[in-house]
Amino acid sequence: MTAKFDILIIEDEEIAGKALAGTLKQKGYAAVWLPNGEEGLFHFKQHPVDVVLLDYKLPGMSGEEWLGRMKEINPLTPVIFMTAYSSVERAVRLLKMGAYTYLTKPLEMEEVLHNIENALEKVSLQRENKRLQQGLQEKYSFQNYVFNSGKMQEILNLAMRAAQSEASILVTGESGTGKEVIANIIHHSSARSDRTFVKVNLSAIPPTLIEAELFGAVKGAYTGSVQTRKGMFEEADGGTLFLDEIGELPFEIQVKLLRALQEREITRLGSTAPVKVNIRIITATNQNLEELVRQKKFREDLFFRLNVINIDLPPLRQRKEEIPHLVDLFIKKFNHRENKRIESVSKDAMNLLIKYHYPGNIRELENIVERAVVLSRDDSLGMRDLPVFLNREPDDTSPEQFSDSPLPLPERLNIIEKEIITRTLEKFNYNQSRAAQELGISESGLRYKIQSLGIRK
Ligand SMILES: Nc1ncnc2c1ncn2[C@@H]1O[C@H](COP(=O)(O)OP(=O)(O)OP(=O)(O)O)[C@@H](O)[C@H]1O
Ligand SMILES: [Mg+2]
Repeated sequence: MTAKFDILIIEDEEIAGKALAGTLKQKGYAAVWLPNGEEGLFHFKQHPVDVVLLDYKLPGMSGEEWLGRMKEINPLTPVIFMTAYSSVERAVRLLKMGAYTYLTKPLEMEEVLHNIENALEKVSLQRENKRLQQGLQEKYSFQNYVFNSGKMQEILNLAMRAAQSEASILVTGESGTGKEVIANIIHHSSARSDRTFVKVNLSAIPPTLIEAELFGAVKGAYTGSVQTRKGMFEEADGGTLFLDEIGELPFEIQVKLLRALQEREITRLGSTAPVKVNIRIITATNQNLEELVRQKKFREDLFFRLNVINIDLPPLRQRKEEIPHLVDLFIKKFNHRENKRIESVSKDAMNLLIKYHYPGNIRELENIVERAVVLSRDDSLGMRDLPVFLNREPDDTSPEQFSDSPLPLPERLNIIEKEIITRTLEKFNYNQSRAAQELGISESGLRYKIQSLGIRK
């Protein structure tokens, strides 16, 4: 280890505290042990500390109160709790209050070291992200979103660094994981932030009109084109062009997009005069583009051109530690809109929200919280405000499961279909021919579904 990191251990049992400090010193950390919260807090105020290991049961105040006071001094320093026994409620409460994690006693040294290393990594990313984002417009500041897990801090860091370049970025991830949010953050963190950000959702435009939409058209170029119009490339000139659902781009137009990116110029439909454009391109998809390339539905040369930097967003079920923070954020948002004053979520409701597997990811969680805020009759969200399907076991997939989901029907059907296919694939260890057999569809039909629903191993 090159740099020395400072670790503060607050533990009222002298033998345990000293032993822990000794081991950490051996590992090359600068470790300080203090026997009580008051002294610990005083030290924390006076000295730089990179990670705090805090005994949950200290005399004088509860672990939550100590945590609160530390957060007031420095909210970024990760605090790892050490507790004699664990309960889900307590863990959730601590994590929600901003604890980094908690460890159960007796401590496993390997686990302690592993968690310290992760926490240090997160701190350095947080510091770098903060530095990178200084001077950014508030609205698109990542402070307004939740990037709480180490995984998401890393992704944010990648996005912030990518934003400093002009490279094309492909954002991938299941539906509702925040691809558009990332695209926005990148634009607003880039040198082009004072220029326009133009978004085109390729799945929302009839394929025959995509070319004119992107590149513009002169009067009479196609039926119904009554006047000359600029395309989105020209609209985005100087700024960023975000092509959402890029997997939907018709094959014939892919070569035109490639040429536009290579030559940095476009030609309006029906015209022969090329127009220079200066844009930064960000694309997003929930499909597996590599698979589309294999199936010759997506040009490989275009794929490479777009995928200079790939930002792949993990599904919400792989970053559950963010759920309490997201719930808080969405409650605030909908409190404001609905003029409500919800302040808390009951323990059982929060446990259920954490347990659920979110095939629709953050968007689905947001919808669930929106619905709950609208329905709630007092200042706390409880079980009765949550949709009943949350209460089922995750492998109990029946269409009714989503019957009172706030999502529109086609989205619900996609979610259900995706669920069933994913489970079947998992059951057969991703053997597609056996899964297809079980599902009663052809193998090519299954491949199509996998690709169109964005199912990934
Ligand atoms: N990190 C985050 N913190 C808070 N809210 C988020 C975050 N990421 C996404 N959201 C919210 O979740 C919803 C879905 O996000 P977004 O539209 O970016 O997802 P997407 O991946 O583009 O989805 P789709 O594939 O369906 O287009 C939005 O309302 C967005 O504000
Ligand atoms: Mg999107």
